[in-house]
Amino acid sequence: MQFPSIILILHELKKSNLQLYQENQPLQAAMLKLKNNAQIVGLIPTMGALHEGHLSLIREAKRQSDVVVVSIFVNPTQFNNSSDLDKYPRTLEEDLKLLKQNFKDLIIFSPTINEVYGESITSEKFEFGKLAHQMEGKYRDGHFDGVGTILKKLFTIVQPDKAFFGEKDYQQLLIVKKLIALTGQNVEIIGCPISREENGLARSSRNKRLSEEEQEKATFIFKTLKEAKEKFGTKNVLLLKQEIEEKFNHQAFLELEYFEISEADTLIPATQIEEHKKYRAFVAAYANDVRLIDNIALN
Ligand code: PAF
Repeated sequence: MQFPSIILILHELKKSNLQLYQENQPLQAAMLKLKNNAQIVGLIPTMGALHEGHLSLIREAKRQSDVVVVSIFVNPTQFNNSSDLDKYPRTLEEDLKLLKQNFKDLIIFSPTINEVYGESITSEKFEFGKLAHQMEGKYRDGHFDGVGTILKKLFTIVQPDKAFFGEKDYQQLLIVKKLIALTGQNVEIIGCPISREENGLARSSRNKRLSEEEQEKATFIFKTLKEAKEKFGTKNVLLLKQEIEEKFNHQAFLELEYFEISEADTLIPATQIEEHKKYRAFVAAYANDVRLIDNIALN
């Protein structure tokens, strides 16, 4: 069902060249026409509550594609915690306004749960291997099967040539590359740099649930990641990990879920540094009940 305010916005969108689809079939018909005209299609999958980070992904997609599709869909199967799913911001009206203010030409796909999942809101099980057992996989049971399920569906519906993902969800980026290897879907996966507020906080839809003061306090995450980067290579990696964990334990605002220093390709936690390998540091922490993640390349 469409709410009256959405209908008004639909009318507004028509005046610019933004097209909103809420059903698979009309979208697929439009995509088929574009594909037949050899247009390169770029997809940015999102769960809405759009912010500058999403806009930067869209700008990159526009540089690299002829047609850009933004999907907006809060995917239930990737939430292991029903209260997190309930509290996830849903701001379609504002999202559409933001897109209209910033872009002249876009396809927006915002389907209902029923349109995507039909009667069965369940995840497919994927063999992501060790990648899925670290960090987010360890703390959010079934999360990556949910992400894999929705992306496989979106890639099938939209048939993009390229899909764009932020490196804030670095583990997700590696999982999506693995998904493509497993499914054989013909989509180039492009990772884009983390978008940050001026104070360093990684942009996230979840930041909307924090006050300005809380957001300022949450910059501790990026400050500490930068400190880990400065100290990386100057001391034993396990001692560095311990030192950073202690820093988190000595401040009152954030509750650390994990801090890891891991090999960048496999995400296996580092016990010692090998010169030719790349490493990253990763954090997940709660600010009140808002779960924040961030990461940094260490070398
Ligand atoms: O990163 C996200 O917002 C989601 O995990 C994604 C990729 C849109 C799948 O629902």
